[in-house]
Amino acid sequence: MIKPDGLQGNYTDQIKAAILEAGFEIVEESTFQLDFEKASLFYAEHSGKTFFQSLIAYITSGPVLAMVLEKPNAILEWRALIGPTNASKAKVSHPRSIRAMCGMDSERNCVHGSDSPQSARREILFFFGDKMNLSGYFFSFLCFK
Ligand code: TYD
Ligand code: MG
Repeated sequence: MIKPDGLQGNYTDQIKAAILEAGFEIVEESTFQLDFEKASLFYAEHSGKTFFQSLIAYITSGPVLAMVLEKPNAILEWRALIGPTNASKAKVSHPRSIRAMCGMDSERNCVHGSDSPQSARREILFFFGDKMNLSGYFFSFLCFK
């Protein structure tokens, strides 16, 4: 997911170029404007954290671009390509990562990545669940372990 700062900073083309260069296929993509409720659901695992309110304000501050990326070992590969959560640290430790390229700090870090097959399934359903109901291919695709 490209977060509001990524879209507002016009990083979408650069991020997509990095995605394709790394060998991912973009199987689905769509832009969404999250509201408070949807964003709180998406980040439910962080609801008790000190940064939660600020995170929700940021993620609802503009549209996000959600994508379904396909590649062998996609989850780990994508997390490696985006770099660590704190973008200011990523600029030092992972200067070629996407978060180093377009993020700012531990909150405004430009992109999201699912952290496990379970989260990927939940997050794909969150954004593309309607489509999945209409598409047999999507259903079989989501049945990975
Ligand atoms: P987390 O799941 O820990 O990081 P990641 O996005 O790398 O999986 O946190 C989710 C988001 O919460 C993170 O992308 C940005 C925000 N966040 C903060 O605003 N402050 C923080 O200190 C942390 C750890 C995260
Ligand atoms: Mg996370």
